[in-house]
Amino acid sequence: MRDVWDVEAVFAANLPRKLFDYTARGDGTEWTMRRNREAFDWVDVVPGRACAPGHVDLATQIYGTKMQYPIMLAPTARHWGLHPDGEAGTHRGASAAAQTPYIVANEPNVPLPEVAAAGGGPLWYQMYGTEDPEANRPMLELAQASGCRAVVITVDQQASAYPRSLQDKNLRGEPLPTSEIGAAARKIDAVAAARLTRYGMDLSRLWYTWEWLEQVRKHVQVPILVKGILTGEDAQICVGRGLGVIVSNHGGRSLDYGPTALEVLPEIVEVVRGRVPVLIDSGFRRGSDVFKALALGADAVCIGRVARWGLGAFGAPGVQRVLEILQEELVQTAAAAGCASLASIKRNAVKTHFT
Ligand code: FNR
Ligand code: LAC
Repeated sequence: MRDVWDVEAVFAANLPRKLFDYTARGDGTEWTMRRNREAFDWVDVVPGRACAPGHVDLATQIYGTKMQYPIMLAPTARHWGLHPDGEAGTHRGASAAAQTPYIVANEPNVPLPEVAAAGGGPLWYQMYGTEDPEANRPMLELAQASGCRAVVITVDQQASAYPRSLQDKNLRGEPLPTSEIGAAARKIDAVAAARLTRYGMDLSRLWYTWEWLEQVRKHVQVPILVKGILTGEDAQICVGRGLGVIVSNHGGRSLDYGPTALEVLPEIVEVVRGRVPVLIDSGFRRGSDVFKALALGADAVCIGRVARWGLGAFGAPGVQRVLEILQEELVQTAAAAGCASLASIKRNAVKTHFT
């Protein structure tokens, strides 16, 4: 396994088509999802005087969470569909890769305290809100009691539609296994069917407001970050309310023809001016991708699908391996660009060909 796409190939071979496509799919025509990858091609790394990789130290901390590399695991749902160890395997693998912090998604398949016990690295918790602010309380309390050191509230993916999954349903009806993996695939179908409208959209998330977020906040004693920010205007609101920012288009699963996270990152960094942390995800597959986002001002990068490829291919060791690949590639790029520390990865370390 030399790069993360080697792992994706094993992942694809292991899983029923439906589950592969649940991970792979994007909103609508998937143009934004493809553009997430292409955006990296339009950023040059500026050549300079290289330094030895052994001298590169990219350790940092965000809201007190220490990390040896500015790389975290993004929240993604339903890990039983990938491996029987579920989110516990993901946490174990992330912890084995230099204690990489893991943002556990909403309602993990494995109970949160068991996920927490599976590894020694830091955990954060991601929430999809319920409209009644009080209804969010039990899960938020459990997350904090389980040791989650920050809460991520996801606000994008409000009206997504996935033609790829509809095609699977209609055209590729291969039999599903009877294992947990088959059960997970059937659940995905059932949830999708229950939410589908005439327009093929999930209409259950159209009520989000900043006021609601203030209500929910009463149940959270740790820092809060808002995930899915793509405009300077929304970033400004986060700064005003003391909320961290995760620049994300949900890996192209939120709004087809919406912008890529990388392209709007400079605008958001300019608005935030270091007052709250700015994280980013969507499309990261190589260490050089991470380097580019750091140079454009991100404090850290979150990895979504790639961690799923690792878990579905090899379980916890697969998660560990994909993270180690990204960490090694990041150090390689930093060394080749002559950046021995995070502070030295400045804006002038890259040149962008988008405006
Ligand atoms: C996600 N993502 C996501 N985000 C979130 O806040 N809560 C969730 O439960 C999920 N679930 C989820 C499932 C699957 C299958 C995918 C692919 C993604 C989005 C995730 O956190 C992140 O924004 C993207 O995955 C980043 O893009 P890449 O790295 O996958 O290209
Ligand atoms: C997804 C949801 C769960 O992207 O966020 O599938």
